[in-house]
Amino acid sequence: SDQLHIRNFSIIAHVDHGKTTLSDRLLEATRTISEREQREQLLDSLDLEREKGITIKLKPVRMEYRAADGQLYQLNLIDTPGHVDFSYEVNRSLAACEGALLVVDASQGIEAQTLANTYLALENDLVIIPVVNKIDLPGAHPEEVAQEIETVIGIPAEDAIMASAKEGIGIAEILEAIVRRIPPPRGQRQQPARALIFDSHYDPYKGVIAYVRVVDGAFTSRDRVRFMGTGAQAETLELGIFRPAMTPLNELVAGEVGYIATGLKSVADCQVGDTITLADAPAAEPLPGYRPAKPMVFAGLYPIDSNAYPELREALERLKLNDAALSFQPESSAALGFGFRCGFLGLLHMEIVRERLEREYKLDLLITAPSVEYQVLLSDGEIVTVANPSEMPDQSRVEAIEEPVVEISVIAPVRYIGTIMELVTTRRGTFISMDYLDPTRVLLKYRMPLAEIVIDFYDQLKSRTQGYASLDYHLAGYQEADLVKLDILVNGQPVDALSLIVHRDFAYQRGRDLVERLRQLIPRQMFEVPIQAAIGSKVIARETIRALRKDVLAKCYGGDVTRKRKLLEKQKEGKKRMKMVGSVEIPQEAFMAILSLN
Ligand code: GTP
Repeated sequence: SDQLHIRNFSIIAHVDHGKTTLSDRLLEATRTISEREQREQLLDSLDLEREKGITIKLKPVRMEYRAADGQLYQLNLIDTPGHVDFSYEVNRSLAACEGALLVVDASQGIEAQTLANTYLALENDLVIIPVVNKIDLPGAHPEEVAQEIETVIGIPAEDAIMASAKEGIGIAEILEAIVRRIPPPRGQRQQPARALIFDSHYDPYKGVIAYVRVVDGAFTSRDRVRFMGTGAQAETLELGIFRPAMTPLNELVAGEVGYIATGLKSVADCQVGDTITLADAPAAEPLPGYRPAKPMVFAGLYPIDSNAYPELREALERLKLNDAALSFQPESSAALGFGFRCGFLGLLHMEIVRERLEREYKLDLLITAPSVEYQVLLSDGEIVTVANPSEMPDQSRVEAIEEPVVEISVIAPVRYIGTIMELVTTRRGTFISMDYLDPTRVLLKYRMPLAEIVIDFYDQLKSRTQGYASLDYHLAGYQEADLVKLDILVNGQPVDALSLIVHRDFAYQRGRDLVERLRQLIPRQMFEVPIQAAIGSKVIARETIRALRKDVLAKCYGGDVTRKRKLLEKQKEGKKRMKMVGSVEIPQEAFMAILSLN
């Protein structure tokens, strides 16, 4: 259809504020799909997402809407992932739109992640339509929330639409606002074709399916296309739109949202943010804003059963087909054998990959503590990147170490300011600013090393604020720091997979806490096991695990056979996530001990 009758929009919302419910309502109201279909199609997200109670991303969908002006409009809803790990993808999804619904829970108010994404939307020149949702809740204070949106973002409170996605209140008004307030796309139909990739998935029959917003020109189902960022070329196998099922068409034109099936074998060739053009009549310039996905958090993945190494490699290769942000390369550890150093966008991404490997590929894995990537300047002038703490060069060869730093935003009730300050200080954070959103809530900004975020910062923040604080962060460059490698020795043997990089000022404290925690986590053995933390050859902390006569059966005085079997069974189970390191069995939890210090 002509561009004047197209509206492309996304929904920005904090987890649980009602994005999924509202999308369902919009689809119902536009009769895009029936209620029964919805359950089947829309909610076919990963099991994992369902279990965690979060939606990572919904499929894009095209709706047809007859507006009050009598005209028929094409509405394209493009979802944005609501998690901090995926902020680059959020940015590109927003770049594919002209407007966004900002959905805020009337009983909660605006949260850090939502605010960050709203700023991204404003940077991309989107029109924001505030929607105050859940006004049916007894604890709702919609007027105050609308006022808060005005204070923080500057959109007049009276522009906010009061809604209840659950009860179907405000839905008609939202649809009208989408048509009236959001401008139509501004691309040029006559220009060489350009489409922005905002997502993709791998299909075993059609290869990589690129989710695109056509900006200029047109694409047909017979075109040969080129990816301007990666340089890859492909034959279009099919193109079409999401309704929400993939529906083939003959062409996609400027302003429209849809998919292009490329036959490519890996999403790495078809990255989010890249521009697709026609191979025979290419555009001169790609669309702005492309950058390849960059992992920020690294961890070692090792099969518990070392024979499963080839399976782990294959599983990672398969996952990578669908996940351009996942990186991996072989590494070996004296303690753990052969495995892979994997790079992730963040901790949630890491958890998702780990769980998928275990569930979908039935692998038993051991994962080491997450680390960041350091830039190390050596005495001879060479610069090396180190993503595995055990590979940090010897101190005598190191001139300087730089670590990634992030700027964090925390939104929390005023009464937690002290608590948050304290937590941030113990994590080497420095204060940037504090702004009141309203008399009861503040927005705090700090600069902080990423390494301090990846070790359990979010959980600590949540628990110390009874769940009230929300967090967002983005990379703010690299910064030199006085860092040292802390080695852990178990039974006199250094265990490379337990090494970590710490700031010199915190080394003693971390060392003491860590050996204490390891003493609790490593089960008693038949002999006494010393646990030590050392910097270079200097031991800075020590604990001892006392010996145990581990004759479990001795406990079964009566010789009851079933009881005995049960105990043996239990013992076997307890062994599952253990690795034999030298003569000591070390459980999975010990490798993550750094994440469970208090
Ligand atoms: P994620 O899937 O985690 O991103 O959350 P979401 O933002 O998609 O929220 P979702 O639509 O799943 O809604 C979260 C919860 O709020 C669900 O239990 C909904 O039933 C409920 N909910 C959504 N809208 C309303 C509303 O208008 N009123 C009330 N009372 N509850 C609502």
